[in-house]
Amino acid sequence: MALAYEAYLQEILIDEATLQNRIAQLGAQINLDYAGCGNLLLLCVLKGGVMFLSDLSRHINVPHVIDFMAASSYGKGARQSTGSVRIDMDMRLDVKDKHVLVVEDIIDSGYTLAFVLKTLRNREPASLKLCALLNKQSRREVDIDVDYIGFNIENKYVFGYGLDLDERFRNLRFVGVARTDALVDE
Ligand code: IMP
Ligand code: MG
Repeated sequence: MALAYEAYLQEILIDEATLQNRIAQLGAQINLDYAGCGNLLLLCVLKGGVMFLSDLSRHINVPHVIDFMAASSYGKGARQSTGSVRIDMDMRLDVKDKHVLVVEDIIDSGYTLAFVLKTLRNREPASLKLCALLNKQSRREVDIDVDYIGFNIENKYVFGYGLDLDERFRNLRFVGVARTDALVDE
């Protein structure tokens, strides 16, 4: 039988209340910045961004639509990105002339988002901004402008609140640091 999350958890990094407070603040800022905007589109990058999108969206009172895109990088193992990124599932809506806000769980090397942003830019949105819940600045390999950041975190593997540990534990209400002995492929 699979082990419960406690077996892999070193410590809780961001608890539920802290997460929710910060997400409410981000929503308030987005409401100010996009006030009066008639065609806001929140684009969630799957799968990690799904919890963040659903909570953030409920703090946004500017009328908006949501859509989803799945991207993955491949070549270096499950926990390290490479320059090779592909779109596994494209979005359905047309982004042309929309104000697109990309909602992502975490920026690590930046390769995934650099590719997603380039893809979207080619489709001529009216504007393109980025909102990431977590940012591991020390891991960055490509330059990315992040418009909204929930939390800057250290270079540790985290899971919960959308982020997975080998696809599991996305449902946790907090963000936790994984025990290093749980990360067997590094
Ligand atoms: P990047 O291309 O290196 O920026 O990687 C971004 C993607 O890797 C994120 O969207 C996550 O899905 C995944 N990722 C990076 N760091 C972590 C982590 O600490 N926990 C879980 N997933 C992570
Ligand atoms: Mg992700």
